[in-house]
Amino acid sequence: MESRPPEGRWRGRAPGRVNLIGEHVDYMGGVVLPAAVDRHTEVTGTAASEWAVRSNIQGGLAYVRAVGEELGAAPQSVDVTSEVPPAAGISSSAALLVAVAAGLRPEMDGKLAALACQRAEQRATGVQVGVMDQFASALGRRGHALLLDCTTLEYQAVPFPDELAIAVIDSGEHRSLAATPYNERRREAESGDPKRRRHVDSEIARVHAFVSALHSRDFDELGRLLKQSHESLRDDFEVSTPIVDALVEKAWASAGCYGARIMGAGFGGSVLALVEHAHTKAFAASIGRPVLFCVTADGAYVAPRHQGPPRTHGEASEFVGL
Ligand code: GLA
Repeated sequence: MESRPPEGRWRGRAPGRVNLIGEHVDYMGGVVLPAAVDRHTEVTGTAASEWAVRSNIQGGLAYVRAVGEELGAAPQSVDVTSEVPPAAGISSSAALLVAVAAGLRPEMDGKLAALACQRAEQRATGVQVGVMDQFASALGRRGHALLLDCTTLEYQAVPFPDELAIAVIDSGEHRSLAATPYNERRREAESGDPKRRRHVDSEIARVHAFVSALHSRDFDELGRLLKQSHESLRDDFEVSTPIVDALVEKAWASAGCYGARIMGAGFGGSVLALVEHAHTKAFAASIGRPVLFCVTADGAYVAPRHQGPPRTHGEASEFVGL
């Protein structure tokens, strides 16, 4: 695929994401419920003799080159400014990939852009990731989560209640996905291993139940489903760790917390909790780890295409807690 060579300096911007529920089911063709969140990565670039990246966060060249190549773009020199903390669980990689795609190919269909970014991530890392993260970053909607069918790529925006704060807790146990058994879990699930399948099937049922509970504003039910999701990821899919389990249990016991679970690929990483707005400060204090509070945001292929001048500052994201 050949794309027009971008003329002059181009820019793109894309958000990180959370996944409310539907973990380790995207690559199985299941349904997931992610949301784009209000932490963004911005990129600017110009044509260059070879791919180059300057960034306020580490790395990124492999991702930028891979997405550029997926889009058929000639080499670019790219400046990255990100408020999406790396390894904090809100998919800084998807935000970077989608920001570059939105900059290089703003006219592209958002679904096709998400698929190109997924292929780029697979190519850059060797990890056979699903499409959820890139899809949420491209097509998430402010005020909503996205109910995404990963077989058909049909999706629906599901209103997300203002009263609920989305908390992302950094477990401090960081790992690069390539160093985890992600591919192994995927193979096991695909080959029909009964325990892995039990997680996949029960998790898909929980996604639908979660959407119903959002519609009926049954926050206690949301919490119960998060708890069950965690137990299933811990016991059947075996992607949790003792450190993460302890953090999740601490969150469950905190006042104002409806529920919590390990989020994303797992093997360390981050914890998602839904917390009553009135309790966010006390929650962060009781957790004793950095907590990032997020609100939902528009994806890169939803927001206006021309997003003003690039920011000049690269401040760290706002963490509450440590
Ligand atoms: C990572 C992958 C996603 C998804 C999750 C687990 O975030 O990038 O595609 O598989 O893990 O739900």
